[in-house]
Amino acid sequence: PTVSFSKDNSLVTATLPTGESITVLLYGATVISWKDSSSSEKLWLSSAAKLDGTKPVRGGIPLVFPVFGPPPPDHSQTSSLPQHGFARTSRWEFLGKSTSESSGTQQTGDLSVKLDFGLSSAADGLDPKAKDAWGYKFNLIYSVTLNRKDLTTSLVVTNDDDRPFDCQVLMHTYLKVNDITKVSISGLDNSSYIDKVDSASTKTQSGEIKIEGETDRVYTADGPVTVAEDGKTLYTVTRDNLSDVVVWNPWIEKAKGMGDFEPKDGYKEMLCVEPGSVGGWQTLEKGDAFEGAQTITLA
Ligand code: BG6
Repeated sequence: PTVSFSKDNSLVTATLPTGESITVLLYGATVISWKDSSSSEKLWLSSAAKLDGTKPVRGGIPLVFPVFGPPPPDHSQTSSLPQHGFARTSRWEFLGKSTSESSGTQQTGDLSVKLDFGLSSAADGLDPKAKDAWGYKFNLIYSVTLNRKDLTTSLVVTNDDDRPFDCQVLMHTYLKVNDITKVSISGLDNSSYIDKVDSASTKTQSGEIKIEGETDRVYTADGPVTVAEDGKTLYTVTRDNLSDVVVWNPWIEKAKGMGDFEPKDGYKEMLCVEPGSVGGWQTLEKGDAFEGAQTITLA
C-alpha cells in the first residue's frame, strides 16, 4: 500500500492507504480539507470561501504571518500590512512530499505523509502588497503532516535579512463541530486571556469554555486544549513553541457581516482554535529561525 497523491496548479492532495486525506491550496498554503478514514471532514470551510486567490480562505487552516489581527499602529514594521499579514494571501511553492511509517500513538505499519511548502521574499507568488509593506528578506517553510489520527502543521520562519525583524505567527484552524451549543473547550482553566469582544480587557478563565455568543479571545496558556461535544472529545490540540491560543466564533451578527461566510448559520458548525505566538513579537536577528507547530489529534 502507498500514499496516493495528486497535484495541479492550485491544489495538492494526499490520501493514506487507510483512507485519511488532506487537501492543501497553494494559495496561502491553506489546508482546506482533512478527512478521517470514513471520509468525515474535520475542518470547516465556508461554501462561499474564495479559493481562486482573490481573498484569504474562509475556513480550513489559513496561516497568519507576520502580524496577527489588524496591525498595531504603534508597531512601525508591520503597520502597513493587511489584517493577519500576507502568508495567507501569497501563492506558496510546493517543495515535495515524504512518506514514512507513523510515529507516536499510531499503529505500527501505518503510513503517514508530510507535504512541504515554501514562501520567501524572493518568491513570484509573494502577495505584491507585502513587498512594499514589509521589505524584509525572509524564508518560510510550512510542513503539513497527516497521520491516521492526527494532523500536524509546522512553520519555520528564517530571517535572511541583514536587519532584525519582528513577527507573529498563528495557525487559524477552523474546526468542524456538529452543534456549537453542545461544545465545551477545556485545558484553559485559570489561564489569562484578552477578551476582544469586551474592550480587549484582560480576564482569567474559570472552568470550561462554552460558546454562547460572539467569542474572540486570546489565551496565553501551556498544555493541550480539548474540544468536546456532548461530553465526548472531538479534538485535542497540542502546541510546540506557540504560547497563545485564540478561541473564535463569530456568532450570528458577525457571520452575517462576512460576505464569504456561508451558510449564514454555519457559525453553529465551526469553532476556531488558533495556536500562535501573538502576545508579543518574536524578534529574529539576521540568520535566526523560529519554529512553531500544532498537532490536532482525533479522539
Ligand atoms: C481571529 C481574530 O483570529 O480571526 C478575529 O481574533 C477575526 O478578531 C478572525 O475576526 C477572522 O479574521 P479574518 O481577517 O479572517 O476575517
